[in-house]
Amino acid sequence: MTRIQNSVVSCRWSFVRGRVSRLAFLCMLALGGWLTQAQTVPQVPAILLGTAWYPEQWPVSRWDTDLTLMQQAGIHMVRVGEFAWSRMEPSEGQYDLDWLERAVTAAAKHGIVTVIGTPSAAPPAWLTQKYPETLRTKEDGRKEQHGNRQQFNFANPKYRELSRAMAEQLAKRFGHNPNVVGWQIDNEYAEVSFDPDTKAQFQQWLMNRYGTLDNLNTRWTTAYWSETYFDWNQVPIQVGYGNPGLLLSWMRFVSDTWRSYQKNQLEVIRANADPKQFITTNMMGWFNGYDHYTVSQDLDLASWDDYVGKGHLDPVRNGAAHDLTRGFKGKNFWVMETQPGGVNWASINNWLDKGEVRAMAWHDIGHGADMVSYWQWRSALNGQEQYHGTLIGPDGTPDPLYPEIVQIGQELAKASPVLAGTSVKSEVAILHSYDSRWAIEWQKHNKNYDPVDEILSYYGPLRKTAQSVDVVPPTADLTKYKLVVAPGLNVASEPIAQNLIRYVKNGGHLVLGQRSVMKDDDNGLWPQRQPGPLADLLGGRVEQYYALVDPVAVDGKWGAGESSVWAELLSARKSDVEVLMRYGKSNGWLDGQPAVITRKAGKGRITYIGAWLDAKTMANGATWMTEVSGVKPAFGPVPDGVELNPRYGGDGAVYVLVNFATTPQTVKLPATMGDVLNGAAVQSVTLAHYGVAVVTTKK
Ligand code: GAL
Repeated sequence: MTRIQNSVVSCRWSFVRGRVSRLAFLCMLALGGWLTQAQTVPQVPAILLGTAWYPEQWPVSRWDTDLTLMQQAGIHMVRVGEFAWSRMEPSEGQYDLDWLERAVTAAAKHGIVTVIGTPSAAPPAWLTQKYPETLRTKEDGRKEQHGNRQQFNFANPKYRELSRAMAEQLAKRFGHNPNVVGWQIDNEYAEVSFDPDTKAQFQQWLMNRYGTLDNLNTRWTTAYWSETYFDWNQVPIQVGYGNPGLLLSWMRFVSDTWRSYQKNQLEVIRANADPKQFITTNMMGWFNGYDHYTVSQDLDLASWDDYVGKGHLDPVRNGAAHDLTRGFKGKNFWVMETQPGGVNWASINNWLDKGEVRAMAWHDIGHGADMVSYWQWRSALNGQEQYHGTLIGPDGTPDPLYPEIVQIGQELAKASPVLAGTSVKSEVAILHSYDSRWAIEWQKHNKNYDPVDEILSYYGPLRKTAQSVDVVPPTADLTKYKLVVAPGLNVASEPIAQNLIRYVKNGGHLVLGQRSVMKDDDNGLWPQRQPGPLADLLGGRVEQYYALVDPVAVDGKWGAGESSVWAELLSARKSDVEVLMRYGKSNGWLDGQPAVITRKAGKGRITYIGAWLDAKTMANGATWMTEVSGVKPAFGPVPDGVELNPRYGGDGAVYVLVNFATTPQTVKLPATMGDVLNGAAVQSVTLAHYGVAVVTTKK
C-alpha cells in the first residue's frame, strides 16, 4: 500500500467516528498536501517526446512561456543541468540548486518530467584554476584550458572528488523528487588525458592484467623491434600506431577508466536516489573511443545522441546504431538528443527535409527507442552553438519545424498506449566488438577498409530480409538466435571462440565475415590460420588474404557479382564442406578459388564469407542465410525504401512502417490490423515519401 493509500485509510477511520477530530484535521492537511504533490507529478506516457532545456540561460520570468510551448508540442520530458556547474556551484562548496528545483517544479506544472544531467563535462573556471591538475593533457602534451567543454582529466582523483561531491548534492536534493525520472551522468564521454599520472595508472592496470613483465612481453611479442620491457614504468602510451597488444590494452584501460569515472558519480546517486530513477549516460552511436559494453554494465538504461549531420537520414546506418545501442542493455533505449532539423558542426549543415524529422522519430521508436529528445529547445544568445537547430528561435517564438514536432506529439498521444510494454525481438544477431573494430582500424591494410561499413554491408540486406536484427557482443548468450553473423570479428579470445563453437554445436547457424577470428585476446595473431580455433569446425580456412585495388568477380549460388576492397582465398579441407561462391579471373591466386564455404556441424551450421560482396550478391546471400536458418520475417517482402519495424508485447505486435523511398509505396499487411494513427481496420497501407504508419494486431 502506498503512503497516500495508507493515509486515506487512517483518515477515513477518524471521520467515521462522527466528528472532525484533531487527528482528522491534521489528516486533511497532510492528505491535502500529498494529494497536491501527487496531482502535480506528471503522468507521462510510455513513449516520450523531450527536449534539452537550459533554464540557467534564461530569466525565470521566461520559463513558463517556454514550458507552455513545450506542453503544446506534446513534450513530456526535459533534460537539464548537464553543463550548469558554474551555476550550481559558483564557488567551491557553495551549492545553489534552488533555481534548478524551481525549474523542475515549473516543468511538472506543465506535465513535464525531468532528467538531471550531472555537470561534470563542463567544470567551472574557479575549479580548474585552483586545481590545474584536473585539466586534461592532450596527446601532444599541452594542457586544455577553460572556455570549451570536456577539458577535465577523466583519471584525476581531485576531479573525481569534486564531481562526485557535485553529483551527491544533486542526488540529495533531487533523488526523491517525484518529478525527476532519471539521471544522465556527464555528457558524451570522449576526451582522455595523457598526463604522467594517467600513464602511471595505465602501467598499474597492465600490472593487474598481466601479473608479470615476462607474461606481458610474451603476449605482446616484444622481442620484436627490441620492445622488451624491463620495468613497468617503461611502458608508453601509444595510440593509432604501435604494438597491437599495447594499443588494445590502452583502449581497454580507457574503457575501464571511463567506467570508474562514471561509477564515481553513479554510486552517490544510487545511494541517495529512489531506485525508480534510472541512471544513464548519453552515448554516440558508432563512436569507438571506449568499449561501450564495459561502460554500460553499471547503467540502468542505454541512451544515445543521434545526429545526421550533413545529408539525410541513412536508415540502415542509423537503424544499426539504434540496434547497437539497444544491445548495450538488451532492452529499449532512449534517444537522449537528436537534431531538430540541422546541426552546426557538419561540413555542410543542411536542414532535414520537411517531414524527415517526423520520419526519423518514428524510425527511432520502431528500433526500440522509448523517448526521442530534441537538442535543443532554444539557442543560447551567445556561446559556441548559435547556429544549431532549435525548436524555437532567438525571439522565443516557434521555428518552422515546431508544427512537425506538434504532429509527432499528437501521434504519440495515440500510439503510446499501444506501444507501451512492447520491445524489439529478433531471430538474427550481428556480432559487434570494439576490440575488432579497433584492431582493423589500426591495420586497415586497405585504406578503404572501414569496419563499420563492413558490418553495414551485412546488416542492410539482413535487416531487409529478416525485418529485425539485434546487434550484440560476441560474449552474449546466443541461444535465442537462429542466425548469428559476425562480420570482421577480427579479435576473438578463447572464451569467445568457445561461445561461437557452442552455438553452432547446439544448432545455431554462425556466419563469419571476412577478417574474422584472426587475432587472440592480446591482438596477437592466432597461430592457426583464420578462423583460428573455429577452423576445425568449419572444415576449411583462409589460405591467404588479398587487399584489392580493383574488384574481383564472384559467382555461385548467390549469383554473379564482385568482391571489392578485400578477398580471402578459402580452402575446403573436409569432404562435407560446400563451396557456395567462387572468385572469377583475378590475380591468378584467387582464380576459381572458394570465396564462401559452408558446412553442417554439430546440430548447426557454420559459414565463412571471405569476400566483401556487392549489395545485390549480399542480398541474395542474406536470403540464403535466413532461409537456411529458418528465420521468419514478420511480413512478406516490403517495397524497397520502406522500413518495417516490429515491436512485440504480451498482447500483440505493433509495426512501425516508414517510407524513405521518394515515391509513395503500398504495403500489404499479412492480416487485417488496426491503424493506430488513423483509427481504422486496414489490410494495406500506402505511405507517401517520409510517410509513417503504425499498425497493430492488438485488439
Ligand atoms: C552533442 C552534445 C550537445 C550539443 C550537440 C550539438 O554532441 O551532447 O551538448 O553540443 O551535440 O549537435
